[in-house]
Amino acid sequence: MTLTNMVGVRCCFKLLYAIVVLILLHMNNPCIGCSERERQALLALKQGLVFVDDYGSNPFLSWGREAQNKDCCEWDGVHCSNQTGHVVELELHDVQGKISPKLIELQHLEYLDLSENKLSGRIPESIGQMSNIVYLYLSENKLSGRIPESIGQMSNLVHLDLSENKLSGRIPETHFSKLPNLWFLDLSSNSLVLNFSFDWVPPFQLLYISLGSCKMGPYFPEWLRTQKSYIRLDISDAGISDIIPTWFWDLRNDIVYKDLSRNQIRGNLRSELACHFLNVSWNQLEGPIPSILSSVSLLDLSNNKFSGSAPLLCTSTTEKSNLQYLDLSSNNVSGDLPDCWIHFQQLVFLDLSNNSLSGKIPTTMGYLFGIETLKLNNNIFVGELPSQLKNCTKLTLVDVGENKLSGLIPEWLGENLLNLTIIILRSNQFYRSIPPQLCHLTHLQILDLSMNNISGTIPKCLNNWTTLAKKGTSTLIMHHRSFLWDYIDEEYVTWKGVRSKYKNTLGLVKSIDLSCNKLSGEIPTEVTYLVGVVSLNLSRNQLTGQIPSRIGNLEELDSLDLSRNQINGRIPTSLSWIYRIGYLDLSQNNLSGKIPIGTQLQTFDSAYGGNPLLCGEPLPRTCSEEGKGPGQSMLVNEDDKDGLITQGFYISMGLGFAVGFWGVCGTLLLNRSCRYMYFNFLTFLNDWLYVKVEIIRQRILNK
Ligand SMILES: *[C@@H]1O[C@H](CO)[C@@H](O)[C@H](O)[C@H]1NC(C)=O
Ligand SMILES: *[C@@H]1O[C@H](CO)[C@@H](O)[C@H](O)[C@H]1NC(C)=O
Ligand SMILES: *[C@@H]1O[C@H](CO)[C@@H](O)[C@H](O)[C@H]1NC(C)=O
Ligand SMILES: *[C@@H]1O[C@H](CO)[C@@H](O)[C@H](O)[C@H]1NC(C)=O
Ligand SMILES: *[C@@H]1O[C@H](CO)[C@@H](O)[C@H](O)[C@H]1NC(C)=O
Ligand SMILES: *[C@@H]1O[C@H](CO)[C@@H](O)[C@H](O)[C@H]1NC(C)=O
Ligand SMILES: *[C@@H]1O[C@H](CO)[C@@H](O)[C@H](O)[C@H]1NC(C)=O
Ligand SMILES: *[C@@H]1O[C@H](CO)[C@@H](O)[C@H](O)[C@H]1NC(C)=O
Ligand SMILES: *[C@@H]1O[C@H](CO)[C@@H](O)[C@H](O)[C@H]1NC(C)=O
Ligand SMILES: *[C@@H]1O[C@H](CO)[C@@H](O)[C@H](O)[C@H]1NC(C)=O
Ligand SMILES: *[C@@H]1O[C@H](CO)[C@@H](O)[C@H](O)[C@H]1NC(C)=O
Repeated sequence: MTLTNMVGVRCCFKLLYAIVVLILLHMNNPCIGCSERERQALLALKQGLVFVDDYGSNPFLSWGREAQNKDCCEWDGVHCSNQTGHVVELELHDVQGKISPKLIELQHLEYLDLSENKLSGRIPESIGQMSNIVYLYLSENKLSGRIPESIGQMSNLVHLDLSENKLSGRIPETHFSKLPNLWFLDLSSNSLVLNFSFDWVPPFQLLYISLGSCKMGPYFPEWLRTQKSYIRLDISDAGISDIIPTWFWDLRNDIVYKDLSRNQIRGNLRSELACHFLNVSWNQLEGPIPSILSSVSLLDLSNNKFSGSAPLLCTSTTEKSNLQYLDLSSNNVSGDLPDCWIHFQQLVFLDLSNNSLSGKIPTTMGYLFGIETLKLNNNIFVGELPSQLKNCTKLTLVDVGENKLSGLIPEWLGENLLNLTIIILRSNQFYRSIPPQLCHLTHLQILDLSMNNISGTIPKCLNNWTTLAKKGTSTLIMHHRSFLWDYIDEEYVTWKGVRSKYKNTLGLVKSIDLSCNKLSGEIPTEVTYLVGVVSLNLSRNQLTGQIPSRIGNLEELDSLDLSRNQINGRIPTSLSWIYRIGYLDLSQNNLSGKIPIGTQLQTFDSAYGGNPLLCGEPLPRTCSEEGKGPGQSMLVNEDDKDGLITQGFYISMGLGFAVGFWGVCGTLLLNRSCRYMYFNFLTFLNDWLYVKVEIIRQRILNK
């Protein structure tokens, strides 16, 4: 069945399902009703649970005391068999608490969905007595302890999902040896150890195998050899330190997704990559880069020990490749990049960073018309950025930092690549001035031109960078290609002097780094329009003139480095009103006068050194009799006229920041990352499974 077909069929099934449920809801036979035993079991279950979502509708309202006399088949989340009247289906969400062991009295239950709750404690030891269960879904809870051995008795089980819990302990194969019908197994994101014997032949043929973080090493799990028809396999972070056996590649399947990342898998990779999605990152694979077959669409080989020279990339591709995502970063690939990118026109993501690639950036990269993310940083590329890249108009991220590139900063970056959000040219030998065309890049969020040989002045038009001129988090760029995968960009940024990787929080990082160049002239006052900027680094240049008096407009500024320039004049009072500022360096300039009194300015002990005419706290030098220090009388203090901005306003901004920044940064976004990544694949797959499950459900309900 083709995919489009499947989607069509899925719609029909959803409709059908809705109709069936409607019919069922109205056909529950009140004369039969659930048994007293089942009713008591449900009430016992309810006793251990609390409904915790203010927005959803509380199912327990219909389980209340008044309703006690009613047939429990009428209760929300409970469905009974059309014919026997027994409870066959139970589905509860947004509840907290523990699962009552009395649950097992629901002997006829065939469909149990308690996923996405805040259930804690253990899975009832005797759960296996519910031997009619076909669909057991307890994922995304806080269940702990072992998986009860009795699960092995649930011989009708088809779908077992215990993922994202805190389950632990060893699971021997006996847990699964009586589950012939199982085809969906998800135990990922727990702390489980699978102790299966080497020659175990499972009684099932799985379709969906998700065992990420389940330890099953050190040998490659041989039992997988018996599984002939799966479409998804995740054995990432499984403690496997072995070579990949040959049989593993032999299984040909069109939509196979294989994730073997974060193990210690050794050896070479066979060229016959029989799958669409292969992630073998963070292993110890070595040898030449496998020649890339046209069938693969996503290949993550990053953080291995692939070596040899880059030309191999092209040897096998006389035909067009379907590759859309290639990550070869952090390997040991060397040599010139071949000029054969015309075959890779489907590429959306290309990361070759942190290798030893040399020579010029090939001009055929201009054929990557669909490319959105291009990372060539941390190699030894020389020469100019090829002007052919201007045809890659979909680029949002270009990182060519830490190479030996030279030449002018191309004007076409600003003229043609209008979707650019992140430009990193750091640590190369680009020279001459910053072209004003860069101001056309209204989406610009991170600009890092540091450590080059750039001279001239900072363009005044930089207030055209509208994203930087907007406060708050910009939306993460979701790159979406197919139902199999999508990704969000990640990037290293120097912030407060520390270089670290940002991914889920990248939208918070609005940064301009022009440090370590030969920029001269004044800091344009237009910079004060960029109110979204979080980090501004202009240090180690030859800037003169004064700090723009309205620098305090940059309310989001967390890190400001103007050190090692020739900036003179007073420190504007408005600077002291930026309550968020957590890092300040104004040292080695020619600033004068009294350091403004403000909440934080006095705490940056080392921010003011090397400015002989500066006085006042925290410097030991006190200001002269006039109280304002030298230079003061010569200067018109512009910001004293600006009475509009009150301190209270800034304080509230500061509080907002603390709550907003860490709240969002710490929890929400982190959790979302996985979902972004697999969302599309899972949507597809779940729909597909849904169809299957619905068929089973209908069978159950019609019994
Ligand atoms: C693991 O399984 C093997 C045989 O399959 C058994 O001998 C061994 O005791 C098991 N280890 C534990 C800790 O259960
Ligand atoms: C591959 O796996 C690694 C580690 O599990 C993960 O960080 C990375 O995002 C995955 N790559 C893709 C393209 O999904
Ligand atoms: C670059 O690759 C080496 C191994 O080849 C690794 O140790 C290092 O952490 C990588 N650096 C970055 C920035 O990823
Ligand atoms: C990288 O490859 C070179 C040869 O190309 C080799 O000498 C070197 O040891 C390799 N480095 C690592 C870390 O594998
Ligand atoms: C790039 O675009 C220009 C005009 O848009 C076109 O003439 C040229 O052939 C393109 N280059 C490639 C390599 O397709
Ligand atoms: C820029 O991005 C927007 C959406 O983010 C897209 O609609 C548009 O086509 C892109 N422009 C180019 C030239 O790719
Ligand atoms: C820096 O650029 C100037 C031209 O602007 C050039 O003369 C000089 O050689 C460059 N210096 C280095 C170290 O590349
Ligand atoms: C900046 O924006 C203004 C108005 O949007 C526009 O007229 C001007 O041409 C832009 N300048 C540059 C250099 O992009
Ligand atoms: C500014 O850039 C310089 C040189 O690139 C770096 O040493 C310094 O740590 C940066 N400052 C901040 C605050 O990141
Ligand atoms: C520093 O600034 C003072 C005035 O504030 C000026 O007289 C002096 O020449 C400046 N020194 C340098 C080295 O620019
Ligand atoms: C419910 O059972 C009746 C027989 O009692 C049967 O005719 C009907 O098709 C069943 N309904 C559903 C939706 O299965």
